[in-house]
Parts: sequence; C-alpha cells; structure tokens
Amino acid sequence: MSKVTLAEGVYWVGAIDWNIRNFHGYSTRLGTTYNAYLVVDDSIALIDTVKAPFYDQMLARVSEIVPLDKIDYVVSNHVEMDHSGSLPMIMRDASKAKLITLEKFGESGLKKTFHSDWPFQTVKEGSELSLGKRKLVFIPTPMLHWPDSMASYLVEDKILFSMDAFGQHIASSSRFDDEVGLDAIMPEAAKYYANILMPFGDLIVRAVDKLGGLDIGTIACSHGVIWRSHADTIVNAYASWGRGDSRSKMLVIYDTMWGSTEKMAHALVDGAMSEGVDVKLYNLTKSDKSDIIKEVLDAKALLVGSPTLNNGMFPTVAGFLCYLKGLRPKGKIGAAFGSHGWAGGAVKAIEQELAQTGIEIVESDLAIKFVPESDELQRCFDFGRTMAKKVA
Ligand code: FEO
Repeated sequence: MSKVTLAEGVYWVGAIDWNIRNFHGYSTRLGTTYNAYLVVDDSIALIDTVKAPFYDQMLARVSEIVPLDKIDYVVSNHVEMDHSGSLPMIMRDASKAKLITLEKFGESGLKKTFHSDWPFQTVKEGSELSLGKRKLVFIPTPMLHWPDSMASYLVEDKILFSMDAFGQHIASSSRFDDEVGLDAIMPEAAKYYANILMPFGDLIVRAVDKLGGLDIGTIACSHGVIWRSHADTIVNAYASWGRGDSRSKMLVIYDTMWGSTEKMAHALVDGAMSEGVDVKLYNLTKSDKSDIIKEVLDAKALLVGSPTLNNGMFPTVAGFLCYLKGLRPKGKIGAAFGSHGWAGGAVKAIEQELAQTGIEIVESDLAIKFVPESDELQRCFDFGRTMAKKVA
C-alpha cells in the first residue's frame, strides 16, 4: 500500500468505498471515500476515522506509518457514523489517545451514539492543539453538516481538514483534484452540495467568509478528492451555491399515468426551447431524484406536473416535492401542470407544496381534463415560452 502524502508528515489514511450506491437516500454511482488523515509531529494526531466496516483499511494505512499506541490524539470533527464509526475500535487500539471533539454537541453526540466514556478533550472556536512544530486550530462549522461539525486547520502547512464541506462522492484511485480533473469533480461536488448542504445556504456563506480569513493551501475534505490545486474553485462555488445563484435554466419535472401530463411536459419544453433557454425534462419514475436535485441547484424555474390520483398528486411527485421542501432551495420560481379525469386536485396540491418550499408561484391555468387537445397543448407551449422569458 503506497503512502499518500499531503505535506511532510501529513498523510491520507482513509478508505475507499467503491461499491456504495445509496448514501442515506441519494445515489452515489461513483462510490465514495471516507477520508481520515494522520499528522505526525512530536505528537501524533489522527483526524477522523472511517465508516465501521472499513476500519481494517484505515488500520492498514495508519500502521504503515506509525504503531497505533503512538497516537496521542484522535480528532473527531463530526459525529455522523461515516466518520466516527471506527472510533470504538481506534479508541480501543490506540490505547493512550485522547479524543478531541467540539464542546458543544460533539462530546454529548459521541456519548449518546457510542455509549462510551472515552478520554474526551473538548475544544471550541479558536482552540489550539500544539503537536510540536505545528499546531491545529479548531473552527466550528455548525450544520455543515450537523450541529457538531467542525473543521481543523493545520496552520503551518495551510491544510484545512474541512469535514463534509467541499466533499464529493467519488471513489477513485487518485486522491487529488489535479489528478482527477475539475470536469469530473465539479458535477459530483454540486450534487453533493445540493443533496446535503443546500438547506444551509446562509450558514455556508458565513462559513466561507470565516474560512476565507485563513490562508488555505489545501482543503482536505472528508469525502472524495483532496483540493490541493483548485481550493479557490470549490470555495467560490460554495459561495455561489450558498447565495442561491441561478442561471437561465428551467426544469420540467413530472410523472404521468396515461401519457397526458407527459404530452403537456413536452409542449412546455418545446415552448421553452423556442426561446433558447436551457431546459431539461425529468420523468420521476425514470429519473433519480438526487440527480434532479443537482439540476435544481442552479435552475431558476421549476415546472412540476402530475396527473390527479385520488384527488391529489401522484406518489412519485409528492415524494419528490417532500424531498425538495426539506432542501429549501433559494430564489426559484415555479408552476404546476397536469391532467385529470372527472375531478382535479394535483395542480393545486403541487402549487401549495411549491409555495411552502419558498418557491414563487407563477399561475399557469394548466389543469387539463383527460387528454390534451391541440389548443391545450398550444397553451402549454405558450406557457413554456412565458416561463422561459422570465428566466432569460
Ligand atoms: Fe460525511 Fe455528515 O457525514
């Protein structure tokens, strides 16, 4: 096993999870990594661990560098078990290690998760830990991704161990951004942000401001590749995503029972395309919701369609809107459309959900009975044009 070095005495000792395809609800077609890091100085610190089934992988990497009983500190930047899962084993095997965690939520979260009384040493904003020739400074980053989250900054090497922030779910034989390439990384970084961090946009902006005060050379995040050549690219992207910046782009998201709502969806897309805006169409039965959410991130308008089933939305549409509402997208406009038989209900229900999500509703008059006729499809086409002009 070859050693992966970030700087002299600073190593990646994490694990690669090639086969994970669903990460608490969203698709991870490229797998992921659980990144742990080892800083070897006069004192030795292990920064985070890996998901429990991958302990042996981390153990093998650490043991190549130092014996476990030489580790002085284990830093837990986050309670979630993809990073803390190996704590019971490492705290057993690294017999003299103290466990560094955030005073607020960290210690209590770990105790409530693992029911263990480890030798905790709590830290707070600005706390420092000298390792000898260099030191770690701890920076709380609440809600990125849990209240207990913090970053650790290795001052002398300008390395920010950023935890979940700036991560991507990519399993790769390469560990660094310049080896994998921005074209491959940025879509995964966007998907990760959209599905995990989008609800916390305001906090992201604040965190980016706070971290912007640091001299950062490398961002060693907890999933995916390490940012050693393009740290500014991902920090700027987070600032933009956190503000809710969008562009001239529409999404038409729908499901269909007998093809009527689908016909309407295509007419809406045709109308938008005739105005030259970027428009994408997603059938919710055929598309993965976490892929769609990635597209929501920088779209200005969402058009959501459903046939009426039992006076309400199709379950796939309701499920998607429930997921969307939790992610609290900023600065979008939206509209509803759909077909029904004897009685409607879906269009109103969609509008209510979109409004509760904080999306500004554009009235559509696109609740159509049974199969749309040519004049009704023309109304859809025209509405597609109207929405396109609003996002242009
Ligand atoms: Fe990668 Fe919030 O854990």
